Amino acid sequence: MELHHQKHHQTYVNNLNAALSAHVSATQTNDVSALIGLQQKIRFNGGGHINHSLFWKNLAPPNTPGNDISSAAPTLREAIVSQWGSESAFVKAFNTLLLSLQGSGWGWLVSTGGPRGRLEIITTKDQDPIVGPDVPVFGVDMWEHAYYLQVSMKTLYLCSNTLTENDIKYLNNKAGYVDGIWNIINWAEAEKRYTAGVESLLKL
Ligand SMILES: [Fe+2]
Repeated sequence: MELHHQKHHQTYVNNLNAALSAHVSATQTNDVSALIGLQQKIRFNGGGHINHSLFWKNLAPPNTPGNDISSAAPTLREAIVSQWGSESAFVKAFNTLLLSLQGSGWGWLVSTGGPRGRLEIITTKDQDPIVGPDVPVFGVDMWEHAYYLQVSMKTLYLCSNTLTENDIKYLNNKAGYVDGIWNIINWAEAEKRYTAGVESLLKL
């Protein structure tokens, strides 16, 4: 997670800042061609920054009060049980959809149309963010960089004591990562987003 935050997320931030700066220049010179060319960079890197900013906040260390859905997210829990029948049925549906995602992307619990809306589990490709009136209640990064350290890192572990078993916990075990994510979901943050939205979080 440290590598993910310091390297991967930082790259989206750097690239977004460069694209926004180029956008200002292109606007000043009325360079329409350059403006169009920058749109995809802004979408990809801006989406990457928004998605990761939401992701870090919707995680909490295991065995902390935020992890307990019953006490931390009573309103959201009621809506989940009302729609899926039980917490376990919801988790099963979420995991199944996440593992069906091909390539890079994200899994989301979304409140459609705004806070306290009908809940939906959806996936988005690459770094496409949840926009518009829909509220991303929580997201799970399904890019390989979220769980799969490179073999060279494993080699480094085997040759030194600088990493622990947890640093190379999942590797290619995508299902293990998806199962494990439930131990660190920040239900207190999810409840806040479900009941009040994320508008304040998206003004980055
Ligand atoms: Fe990521």
